[in-house]
Amino acid sequence: MRRTVRAASTTPTRCTGRGNAMSTHETTQRERVRVFATGACEGFEKLRESLAGHPEIELVGASASVADGAAALAGGHLDAVLHATRSANLPADELAAIREHTRAPVLVVASSGSSRMLEEALDSEVADVLLLPQLVENVVFAIRKATHTTRQAHPAGGGRHGKIVTVFSPKGGTGKTVTATNLASALAKFEQRKTLLLDLDLQFGDAAIMLGIEPEKTIYDLVVAPGELDTEKLAGYTTKHISGLDILPAPLRPEDAELVTEAKLGRLLEVARESYDCIVVDTSPFFHGPMLATLDRTDELLLLSSLDVPTLKNLRLALQTLELLSFPKQRIRIVLNRSNSKVGMKQNEVESALGMKVRFEVPSDRAVPLAVNRGKPVVLDEEGADVSRAIRSMAKNLFPVEEAAKKQRRLLPAFARS
Ligand SMILES: Nc1ncnc2c1ncn2[C@@H]1O[C@H](COP(=O)(O)OP(=O)(O)OP(=O)(O)O)[C@@H](O)[C@H]1O
Ligand SMILES: [Mg+2]
Repeated sequence: MRRTVRAASTTPTRCTGRGNAMSTHETTQRERVRVFATGACEGFEKLRESLAGHPEIELVGASASVADGAAALAGGHLDAVLHATRSANLPADELAAIREHTRAPVLVVASSGSSRMLEEALDSEVADVLLLPQLVENVVFAIRKATHTTRQAHPAGGGRHGKIVTVFSPKGGTGKTVTATNLASALAKFEQRKTLLLDLDLQFGDAAIMLGIEPEKTIYDLVVAPGELDTEKLAGYTTKHISGLDILPAPLRPEDAELVTEAKLGRLLEVARESYDCIVVDTSPFFHGPMLATLDRTDELLLLSSLDVPTLKNLRLALQTLELLSFPKQRIRIVLNRSNSKVGMKQNEVESALGMKVRFEVPSDRAVPLAVNRGKPVVLDEEGADVSRAIRSMAKNLFPVEEAAKKQRRLLPAFARS
């Protein structure tokens, strides 16, 4: 099933008093467990109200049915889902519908559960069953336990848990592919990060061509190949670039894009995380199903802007849509491409239009189209160009804590000598 969400067109019910919390309490929210509530049963509304006021829980939204909450379930970066039912049996169809959107642990809340429901739950993927009424502290404990167990059950294979960096803009031609290809090249070549570039502009992706690669295999070949996806299988479908990055290009024919479903993409990203330090995702200007699956797993969303009014207008809509999807605002970084263009608009105007600070500036440079036409990333083609320096600095900034630790390690021997 393919879903396309137009900017600011979905309206999952938001919980009272929480709508503006993203901007005001960002630090606290990061530590809270992000929960979405679906379904209904006696006592559930009261429980939701108690959870909304609980300091350990961020109730990101609620919907009466799974279908109504689809956008937030898919894009909400959820740690857990509470699903309420009036049925005395496990609501298998509703649970399967939730699974289409998120891998977050699901706790079933029931007002009239039976021992049969508990037995069914043992054989299912359900993390817990809570029969109401319950003390809110018990529910919070169960939610914490479910999220903890899920983390232990899905450890990053081989100790890796790659960072997913998604490059997006709701406007075509803003420089998404230039940024994604160069950022991925800089991460691989200069930061020595094991990097995968995933082209999610599924119909008209041109990341491979910008890198001068003629791929034999694409994401289409991977998703139609029989058998379970694992890291070895993924490695068989990627193509190595001279910078050291691996690329999984977009399908060669636009009609093949349909086969890259949300579910397949979700699994692909989970597997990629196990074998890469960083997965850079190039995108198209739409919130389609695979994009929602990507957003759900995105650690850093690079939102590309430029100094023009139509792009700003679309970016504002995109920010509204991201809020409706409950995407955490603290993961959004505004990138101002062609930041030095003299076009009668200043950076501070962009910032006040978007209500967010510009995090990275990338200047306009003739070296970019020259490198694009040569099929080489500009960070390798013109290492000294301002645009290359800007993108390298962006790459460095994506791993700030580890970068500080690396510097510390470099300093230690000198310190020991003194
Ligand atoms: N900083 C820059 N300086 C000069 N030219 C640039 C810069 N960024 C992008 N361009 C030019 O703009 C063109 C469009 O960029 P790009 O293909 O990356 O946009 P896009 O957002 O991926 O577009 P689409 O939505 O069609 O996929 C490129 O061919 C490139 O030459
Ligand atoms: Mg592009």
